[in-house]
Amino acid sequence: MHFLEYFAIIERDHTIQNPSSPEKIRLLADYCQVRHGLRVLDVGSGKGYLLCTWAKEWQIEGTGLEINPWFIAEARARAQEAGVTDRVAFIEGPALDFSPEPGGYDIVLCIGASFALQDFDHAIPWMLAALKPDGVLAIGEPFFHAPLPPEVAAKVDPELARLHDLAGTVAAFEEHGLSLDGFIAASLDDWDRYESPHWRAAREWARANPDHPDREEFLRRVRHDKEAYFQWQRQYLGWGIFVGRRASF
Ligand SMILES: C[S@@+](CC[C@H](N)C(=O)[O-])C[C@H]1O[C@@H](n2cnc3c(N)ncnc32)[C@H](O)[C@@H]1O
Repeated sequence: MHFLEYFAIIERDHTIQNPSSPEKIRLLADYCQVRHGLRVLDVGSGKGYLLCTWAKEWQIEGTGLEINPWFIAEARARAQEAGVTDRVAFIEGPALDFSPEPGGYDIVLCIGASFALQDFDHAIPWMLAALKPDGVLAIGEPFFHAPLPPEVAAKVDPELARLHDLAGTVAAFEEHGLSLDGFIAASLDDWDRYESPHWRAAREWARANPDHPDREEFLRRVRHDKEAYFQWQRQYLGWGIFVGRRASF
């Protein structure tokens, strides 16, 4: 099964597709000092909750970049429902195919999608290139709470094994010439609220699609991710939104 379809199925019931909450997305707006007239670019904008919510409160000009056509459709429907189609646009395709206006945005966000720009260390320079000199950059990224014991490290998927601990993530953020002005961490409740709807959506999809050719592979992946969550991720994996400006400002 293509990964875009996999995520469309298991994130069927999500609105915010990260271990976050409406209150924390509002706090992020405070840290980013959102106000009327700002241009906002959101990389990996998912179902468009953040841009639509902000655009409802402030007259921003928002652009969301999103590869998943199912999420794009939901984001556009959300914009319609919120009455903000004149303020936000969702562009379908790989983020790296989009050429942002250099220095053209007041706020550049990438909330849980740094892989869309390759990884954290490539995402930040890409985002900085799109940012006005006094603009705000916010990136949501996982990190490890503590060094992994060898028996845990052996279970970690390779794409997660490269992650830093929290202090290392802050240091990597600031090595790009940014000053960290705000940090919003996911709580365990946020994690449980993010993970739980995956399991129900997966079970209901499997029940409704008994003859689907990818059913077994799909269920294997869901089982693997659920086991990983309880075996080590819930204890060792953190997630947070790092907000900063160029240190020179
Ligand atoms: C963890 S979700 C976060 C969604 C949203 N930022 C939120 O917080 O609700 C990551 C998003 O990045 C999107 N994505 C993955 N690869 C991408 C790419 N190459 N270009 C654009 N979007 C991508 C996924 O489809 C997904 O919607």
